Amino acid sequence: MQCSAYSGKSIEQRADCLVVGVFESRELGAEARAVDRAVRGRLKNLLQRGDFAGRAGESLLLADLPGLRARTLLLVGQGAAKTYQRRAWRKAMTTAVTALGRTRVTSAIFAIERPADRDFDDYTLARSAAEVSGAALYRINDLKTGKRPPAPALARARFGPFPAAHLADVRRGLGDGTAIAASATLLRNLANLPGNICTPRYLAAQAALLARTHRSVRARALNEAQIRRLKMGCLLAVTRGSAEPPRFIILEHRGGRRGAAPLVLVGKGVTFDSGGISIKDANAMDEMKYDMCGAATVLAAFDLVARLKLRINLVGLVPTCENMPGGRAIKPGDIVTSADGQTVEILNTDAEGRLILCDALHYARRYKPAAVIDMATLTGACVVALGAHHTGIMGNDDELAQELVASGVRADDRAWQLPLTAEYGEQLKTNFADVANVAGRDGGAITAAAFLGRFTKGLKWAHLDIAGTAWLSGNHKSATGRPLALLGDFLIRRARG
Ligand code: BES
Ligand code: MN
Ligand code: ZN
Repeated sequence: MQCSAYSGKSIEQRADCLVVGVFESRELGAEARAVDRAVRGRLKNLLQRGDFAGRAGESLLLADLPGLRARTLLLVGQGAAKTYQRRAWRKAMTTAVTALGRTRVTSAIFAIERPADRDFDDYTLARSAAEVSGAALYRINDLKTGKRPPAPALARARFGPFPAAHLADVRRGLGDGTAIAASATLLRNLANLPGNICTPRYLAAQAALLARTHRSVRARALNEAQIRRLKMGCLLAVTRGSAEPPRFIILEHRGGRRGAAPLVLVGKGVTFDSGGISIKDANAMDEMKYDMCGAATVLAAFDLVARLKLRINLVGLVPTCENMPGGRAIKPGDIVTSADGQTVEILNTDAEGRLILCDALHYARRYKPAAVIDMATLTGACVVALGAHHTGIMGNDDELAQELVASGVRADDRAWQLPLTAEYGEQLKTNFADVANVAGRDGGAITAAAFLGRFTKGLKWAHLDIAGTAWLSGNHKSATGRPLALLGDFLIRRARG
C-alpha cells in the first residue's frame, strides 16, 4: 500500500473514503466537527440517537453523505478521551484499516485523532501509521484450495492533517514504516509456512533470494561438511536426529564505511522442534514450526536495511536445522564439543536452541563486531515470565540492553530486561563436562541466556527471547512479525545517529 501525508482540511481531500474518529463520550474532535458541519449535523444526530458509541474496536461505514467529497465516511471508535494514548490510537488505526480491508475502497484519508503523548512525534506517528496499516492488511499465506476471498482493495492511504512544516518528518516516517511493514510481511510469511516446506534448505534459498533482490546484500549457506570443518559440534549434535540437512547461513549488508565494525544479528532457525529424544507432548506441537522466528527476523532485517539503504555494516548468522528424535539423535547425557572448545553435557535434547546458537555466537567473533544481538524462540519460561506482551532481553551490556528496550517503546514492540547476574550461570554446573545445557525449571529464561553468555565473553551482546511474542496461538494463530519493528528502530537509529 502506498502511504502519503497531507496538510489542510481533511474534508477537502479526494478519496473513496474519509476516516474520522469518535470518542465514547460522543464529543467530537476537530476533524469530526468539521465533518459534522459539512454534512449539516447528520453526524451529531447519528451519535445522539446512539447508533454509534465510539467504543474502541467499533467502526461504522456510511455512504453517499451530501457535503463530503469522499464517497464514504468511516467512523471509528477511539474509546474514552481520557485514556486516548498511543495504544488506543493504534487500536483505532487497526480497526479502521481492517474494516476498509473488507470493502472495495481503494483510497482513504485517515484523519483519526492524534494522541497527546509527547514522545509520539511526527516521525514516529507516521512510521507507526504505515506499519499498523500493513499489519492490518496482512493475510495468512495459507494453503487452502477453495475460493479465496478477494484481496483487500485498499491501495492508497493518506494521513493527516499535518502542519506543512512537519511534512518532511512525516514522509520520512511513512517511508520507514512502509518498509518495515513489507519486511514484516516477509517475516510472517516465512514463519507461517509449515515445517515440511520451510526447511533449513528453504531458509538458505530465501537468503539467496534476498541477495539476488538487493544489491547491498550477499548470502552464503554452509552445508553439513562445511559446518563440520568449523567444528560446530553443538549444531551438528542437534541436527543428528533429522533426515533434513542443516545449513549455516551468512548474510552481509555493506552500507557503512569500509572497515567499520559491523553489527551482527544471530537468529535461531530450528524449522521444527519436536524436542528430540526429550520429546515434547503432542499438545500444540505444531506451533514448533515457529521455532525459526529468530531466523526469519534476521532475514527480514536484511530485507529492511536493504530497502532503506541504511548506512551500516550488518552481518546475519542463521544456524538452521530440525530437532528430531531419529535413530542417530543425541541422547540425554551425551557430551559434545562446541566450536569454541567447551564441552557440553546435553541433559535435555529439547534445550536445542542454545546449542545451535552457541556455535553461531562463537563464529560472530571473527567479525570483531560493534555488538551482537541474537533473537530466539528460546524458552517456555520466558512465556511464563512475560506472557505475549514483552520480549525478554538479557545480555552482558546494560547500555545495549536499554537501547533495545527504548527501541521497543518507540516501535510499540516492547521488551523487558531480565537480570542476567552470575548466580544463574552457576546453575549450569555438572560433574561431567564444562557446562550442562539445562539448569532446572527456575529462572529458565535466564539460565538459557547464561548458557549463551559463556560464548560471548568480551563481545557486546544482547539476547532477545521472543518465545512469547513471535506468534499468537489459538484462533488467531499466526506469526506477529515481532520483533522486527523493535529491531528496525534500533538499526535506523544506529545508522542515522
Ligand atoms: N523452542 C522451545 C521454546 C518454546 C517453547 C518456545 C514453547 C515457545 C513456546 C525450546 O527449544 C525449548 O524446548 N525449550 C525448553 C527448555 C527446557 C528443556 C530447559 C522449554 O522451554 O521447555
Ligand atoms: Mn526445544
Ligand atoms: Zn526450540
